[in-house]
Amino acid sequence: MSKQQVNQKVAVVTGAARGIGKAISQKLLQDGLIVVGADIGQAELEATAAEFSKSGVPFTPFTADLTDDGQVKELFAFTSQTHGGVDVLVNNAGTCFLTDFVDISAEEFRAQMAINFDSAFYCCQQAIPQMLERPGIKKIVNISSNGAYNFDVFDPAHYRASKAAMDTMTKHLARQYATQGIAVNSIAPAMTRTDLFDTVTPDILAQALAGMPRGDAMRPEEIAAWVAFLISPAGDCSSGNVIILNQGRDVR
Ligand SMILES: NC(=O)c1ccc[n+]([C@@H]2O[C@H](COP(=O)([O-])OP(=O)(O)OC[C@H]3O[C@@H](n4cnc5c(N)ncnc54)[C@H](O)[C@@H]3O)[C@@H](O)[C@H]2O)c1
Repeated sequence: MSKQQVNQKVAVVTGAARGIGKAISQKLLQDGLIVVGADIGQAELEATAAEFSKSGVPFTPFTADLTDDGQVKELFAFTSQTHGGVDVLVNNAGTCFLTDFVDISAEEFRAQMAINFDSAFYCCQQAIPQMLERPGIKKIVNISSNGAYNFDVFDPAHYRASKAAMDTMTKHLARQYATQGIAVNSIAPAMTRTDLFDTVTPDILAQALAGMPRGDAMRPEEIAAWVAFLISPAGDCSSGNVIILNQGRDVR
């Protein structure tokens, strides 16, 4: 086991190499947690780990394809062996395929659900038994999307469905583990400036950004701050909620 301070909490953050997952990792490290950052992109994850290590913070990279339940088991076995268990899980890994509905192949449909939903499902299955052995209120935060609720923007059906599935899992787990000290919430952001924007054509992107009340996308750090709030003691009394972050865009 690594040298860690008494009561130092251990977090697993998925999709930690870049974008929102990197910002979440950075914020949790600043808040004093140990972070195991998992990602499929080995080179990018190693670059992120090298960047974090300059500040001397305890970030542990773990390369894995989280759509594979065997690799998810390895991630949590590693976390247990290295840090003694897990107190916090942030299911952030995800992507968005933008094919028109009738042209979505069975392969793309399965990949969309696997990356966004199956990975989170498998991570919860592995994290919860470890969390049940840990003191205090443990936290699962699922990074969903405003796209599961707003049908004016461009998001495709399989992407929306993957996030809706995630939010139903949030509520199920919140209910099932409420008396056992595990709090489960979703954060569902709208447009947030990351590399994911590269998957959208410039005209669709411009239209979506123009729809944001402040005329621009949110920043990954803004989403990370909400995740950190839920993970802090202030978040202990919230469970089973889907928190939508969109600058007030959809208020009618
Ligand atoms: N950017 C936005 O506007 C926005 C809006 C709403 C929701 N989200 C959600 O936020 C999350 C993060 O998105 P982002 O914008 O930072 O995207 P991103 O593409 O910048 O980062 C996603 C990360 O997930 C990793 N990943 C993808 N597939 C994986 C797999 N099979 N196993 C392990 N890691 C994998 C990628 O390598 C990447 O590092 C996603 O779940 C996304 O759906 C993003």
